[in-house]
Amino acid sequence: MTKGFTQRHLLGMETLSREEITTILDLGERFLEIADRPIKKVPTLRGKTVINLFLEPSTRTRTSFEIAAKRLSADGINFTASSSSTVKGETLIDTAMNLDAMNPDIVVIRHAQAGSALLLSQRIRAAIINAGDGAHEHPTQALLDASTIRAHKKRIEGLTVVICGDIDHSRVARSNIFALRTLGARVRVAGPRSLLPIGVENLGCEAYDRIEPALEGADVVMMLRIQMERKAGSRFPNTREYARYFGLNPRRLALAKPDAIVMHPGPMNRGVEIDPGVADGPSSVILDQVSRGVAVRMAVLYLLGGGSGEEWSKS
Ligand code: CP
Repeated sequence: MTKGFTQRHLLGMETLSREEITTILDLGERFLEIADRPIKKVPTLRGKTVINLFLEPSTRTRTSFEIAAKRLSADGINFTASSSSTVKGETLIDTAMNLDAMNPDIVVIRHAQAGSALLLSQRIRAAIINAGDGAHEHPTQALLDASTIRAHKKRIEGLTVVICGDIDHSRVARSNIFALRTLGARVRVAGPRSLLPIGVENLGCEAYDRIEPALEGADVVMMLRIQMERKAGSRFPNTREYARYFGLNPRRLALAKPDAIVMHPGPMNRGVEIDPGVADGPSSVILDQVSRGVAVRMAVLYLLGGGSGEEWSKS
């Protein structure tokens, strides 16, 4: 176990301390350079088995966990709902217990049900990483977001971060609120009143039902898509209306600080929550988030996979 991180699983950001988050971010920073090596591989987790159990669609998270496991020399097994016996009616617990009988070291799970990662952690022996459970948490997204903010702003403490969009259905928003508050940022959430959870202020953030006042003086602007798969479309008239009142365009971005950065966890709906000129513009760090996602996920796999010492840096 590495000093500064004693968790057996990564289920969410709510329970991580500042020291634990910083340990992951620092380690992720050190893993970044492996992406630039001619041979992008270190032997750190050789002989360890990582199962990616993705029972909801994913591009970034699944691919980056796969790449992260490969770069650490772990044996990665990828498992999607459509190619598994879940389509024949096998339950999540039965699926997980059968996979556990093959003795993996780590199971990375994405599932539509909030609490699914916690449930697995109580039933199987492998370390569990939550790669997104319903509208609950997406901890590695918050970690890669914190890594990106820290890299571009050189700090997180004292920054004003605006998270705008479908807050009610967003595991990304929840995990970011927990992580950023723990790291000392001021967090504002903004969206139509129908997409702001009742009592969201109790998580330690300020809530706005208009985007303009939320953006004033912001250091970081994080845009979220509308989660149509969670029936969010019934909470506002139509996407054209939504873009008109809540879309981030150059005029609105000008309300933030001149050096503000723009983030998005993806997938983006260009022209709805974000104008293409902003998504591809000079303030955007969206693809840097994706690059950092691999390094941060390497750090998480390393910490939960029992990596120790400095062996990876010498290879
Ligand atoms: N940010 C994120 O979770 O993207 P995917 O759904 O593509 O993994």
